[in-house]
Amino acid sequence: MYNGGKIILGLIVFIGLMAAPFIFGLGKGNAKPNPSIDTPAIKAMEKKQCVEAKAVMKTEHMKMLNDWRDSVVRDGKRLYVATDGKKYDMSLQNTCMKCHSNKAQFCDKCHIYVGAKPYCWDCHIAPKEGA
Ligand code: HEC
Ligand code: HEC
Ligand code: HEC
Repeated sequence: MYNGGKIILGLIVFIGLMAAPFIFGLGKGNAKPNPSIDTPAIKAMEKKQCVEAKAVMKTEHMKMLNDWRDSVVRDGKRLYVATDGKKYDMSLQNTCMKCHSNKAQFCDKCHIYVGAKPYCWDCHIAPKEGA
């Protein structure tokens, strides 16, 4: 067994290289969505930030929208004061979608990925893409 160790090592490396495209390819089918924030309104912002911190928005935006709707529809209150003191009109169309005017590249990207289908657009007007 002259140099058997090296041959076996070589074989392992060779098999590894052959298998790599399959191993790494597995991740492609469920690549994480990367929602785009490339909109005119966001481009114009000096500090790119959402109503609340990004991590909060990511997990809490559904609840926030629910709370906003209840506040507007039940209590007639439209003013939201964010954690940083900034004030926002509690409106899906006039606030969220003004910045996130790229619904297809933003909201839909994630929702298709997780299989969520918010029915909001039955009534609320979605922004015109590119507007
Ligand atoms: C003033 C502009 C502006 C408004 C208004 C706004 N957003 Fe955002 N939003 C942003 C920006 C900029 C980011 C990216 C923030 C960052 O990277 O820290 C963001 C991030 C997010 C994220 C996280 C995306 C991710 O990749 O995890 C969600 C979800 C979101 N916004 C939903 C909403 C919803 C829902 C509303 C209305 C309640 C809203 N946004 C209102 C500008 C805005
Ligand atoms: C970073 C990914 C991401 C982005 C961007 C995003 N969402 Fe969501 N959204 C989710 C997830 C995850 C859920 C929860 C789905 C579930 O619980 O089944 C959700 C749920 C919702 C729900 C509740 C739907 C339901 O049927 O209960 C609403 C309303 C909603 N999103 C609105 C928006 C709007 C409007 C935007 C764009 C301004 C947006 N989302 C952008 C990930 C995202
Ligand atoms: C059956 C029609 C209908 C559906 C579906 C609907 N809404 Fe509404 N929504 C309304 C009406 C009507 C108002 C009251 C508008 C006003 O007073 O300015 C409203 C108000 C709101 C408001 C506060 C006012 C504003 O300008 O945005 C929010 C936020 C809101 N809805 C979010 C949602 C979200 C999120 C969904 C989806 C999960 C949704 N709505 C689905 C009809 C609907």
